[in-house]
Amino acid sequence: MASRHPADSPVPGQRRRAVGEETPEDPGREPPFLDLERLEERARGALPEDVYDYYAGGAETETTLAEAPGAWRSWRLRPRVLRGITAVPLATELLGSAVATPIGVAPWAYQGMAHPEGELATARGAAAAGALMTVSTSATQTLEEVAAEMPGSPAWFQLYRLHSGAHTDDLARRAGDAGYRALVLTVDLPLLGRRRRDLAHDFALPADLRMANHPPAGDRPGLSDLATATWTFDDIARFGDLSGLPVVVKGVLRGDDAVRCVQAGASAVWVSTHGGRQVDPAVASAHALPEVVDAVGDEVEVYADGGIRSGSDVLTALALGARAVFVGRPTIWGLATGGSAGVTGVLVGLGEELAHTMALCGVDDVRSVPRDTVVPAR
Ligand SMILES: Cc1cc2nc3c(=O)[nH]c(=O)nc-3n(C[C@H](O)[C@H](O)[C@H](O)COP(=O)(O)O)c2cc1C
Repeated sequence: MASRHPADSPVPGQRRRAVGEETPEDPGREPPFLDLERLEERARGALPEDVYDYYAGGAETETTLAEAPGAWRSWRLRPRVLRGITAVPLATELLGSAVATPIGVAPWAYQGMAHPEGELATARGAAAAGALMTVSTSATQTLEEVAAEMPGSPAWFQLYRLHSGAHTDDLARRAGDAGYRALVLTVDLPLLGRRRRDLAHDFALPADLRMANHPPAGDRPGLSDLATATWTFDDIARFGDLSGLPVVVKGVLRGDDAVRCVQAGASAVWVSTHGGRQVDPAVASAHALPEVVDAVGDEVEVYADGGIRSGSDVLTALALGARAVFVGRPTIWGLATGGSAGVTGVLVGLGEELAHTMALCGVDDVRSVPRDTVVPAR
């Protein structure tokens, strides 16, 4: 097969051009593959320093943040040969909703800082990729506005416990009314992680943006005010009843907690370190996932996020028992550099890598990737 890679066939005597390297006659030429590091650099150049640091940063020494991608790569793929696989469909169902890809958008706050259209652009970008979007409580547009931007495309609403219990209950009801398909309770934020970059910048949401889902009187809390009142396992059933939606518990890193979540009524468990923004150093999602799957994977769907940066990272997560994965920062960089098309590009690009790696590994169903497709690296 002919390669699309220009550097594979240099003109004799000419220096090989590094992939992605720009030349005067060829400014800004995109590399013919998803280059997330380059995308992040471009986003960094386009964003104010404190905004970039808010998006990119983690808690404390940023050990969880730094270790996340490498933890997926501490597993190795074991390809199957001679399986006659030529095409790999990525379509699957998440809590009964059909999606075109097992790669969804993780909830992330304050999207209006990355792009003037904020969450609306992400919603269109995810819908164009057929990907599930999880909308954050801390969105800069209301949950109804975001839902209206992606009619027919399944979305979930992520809930934080706000200071006002009544307002929190109201958000859960509104999510049900607005057509979201699940409520994601984020339970790893009983108080905000100590994010040194944000503390150094004294970071705050820019004055022209608002936390649209927060009560009007208190919709501009400082970051430390975002600390939530304590939630307990009983809230899983309670918020399921209030919203009329299946509940996904996000931020679980232990098998015993996962069991208690399921006993309390959770329909799914989402393994996450909150992108390294809360406990530091925490066990990596890639290392916690097998324990959680062993504990509850036969009963409920299990998802994972944190440091997923390639199709092979996705395949590793699926082999370890995840039904789907979610990405945060890659979609931030996509939104900041290319709006809705940038988000679509990241999701489609990761999906293409996943399909390619699956075909190479002789695996053709994202819903049942055999566990022995991966083995710990030695
Ligand atoms: C800037 C930023 C804001 C986030 N905001 C939220 C949020 O509002 N609610 C939530 O549940 N998780 C939030 N997260 C965590 C993400 O949902 C997700 O767990 C994490 O970003 C996945 O890691 P990744 O960025 O390496 O893909 C946020 C993450 C980032 C980077």
